[in-house]
Amino acid sequence: MMRLGVNIDHVATVREARKGKLPDPVAGAIAAEMAGADGIVCHLREDRRHIKDKDLFLLKEIVKTHLNLEMAATDGMVAIATEVIPDMVTLVPEKREEVTTEGGLDVESNENSIEEVTRKLHSHNIVVSLFIDPEIRQIKAAAKCEADYVELHTGLYANAEDLGTITDELEKLRSMAIGAVKMDLGVSAGHGLDYHNVRDILEIEQIEELNIGHAIVAKAVMVGMDRAVRDMMDIIRR
Ligand code: PXP
Repeated sequence: MMRLGVNIDHVATVREARKGKLPDPVAGAIAAEMAGADGIVCHLREDRRHIKDKDLFLLKEIVKTHLNLEMAATDGMVAIATEVIPDMVTLVPEKREEVTTEGGLDVESNENSIEEVTRKLHSHNIVVSLFIDPEIRQIKAAAKCEADYVELHTGLYANAEDLGTITDELEKLRSMAIGAVKMDLGVSAGHGLDYHNVRDILEIEQIEELNIGHAIVAKAVMVGMDRAVRDMMDIIRR
């Protein structure tokens, strides 16, 4: 059964609109877990534009399911991760000027440094996932780095508008998920998934987990976190 990780970054984005205390992403995480989410995801960005260090430390205390920390593969972030010890770290590329994570991590061109970061995280019993574009060279590189999981970037699929591109991107995700499993990697997927486009992704049985943020928080603003998470769980669990 596919698992749902709820990314609560954008609860913090709304808080930062006023630089105050509300809404609290930690409360968002509690509500998401109570609604049945299998895990909580947050991205501690270098610029701290939404999630702050304090949020992360509090999330570590209150999350009872599974905490997945998205972060850049830098020494500073590794120091924080090895202090907090989330269940999983997902390494993502990061550019300050981007609105959200744009492409996947170029594991192939940075094999040595990613392997070293993976080893450090493993020494603290943290499961390591690499957020990559659905390309075979990146999957091979992820396997070489001894990552546990790859998270396939679904952004091109989610943003595609014509049926031909949607089908092509879906096929790419399917074949790369199969390839990753053959290389003994666990497979998750995310970015840009919503209540509609998630349905075809559910047909890819190699994918163990979906990480969804913006669509769930956007719905939560209108109908509440509980309902927003339950509606997504209903689709995923069919
Ligand atoms: N997975 C990763 C690695 C991400 O960086 C993000 C965005 O923070 C997501 C999943 C969730 O994307 P979205 O907010 O579009 O659902």
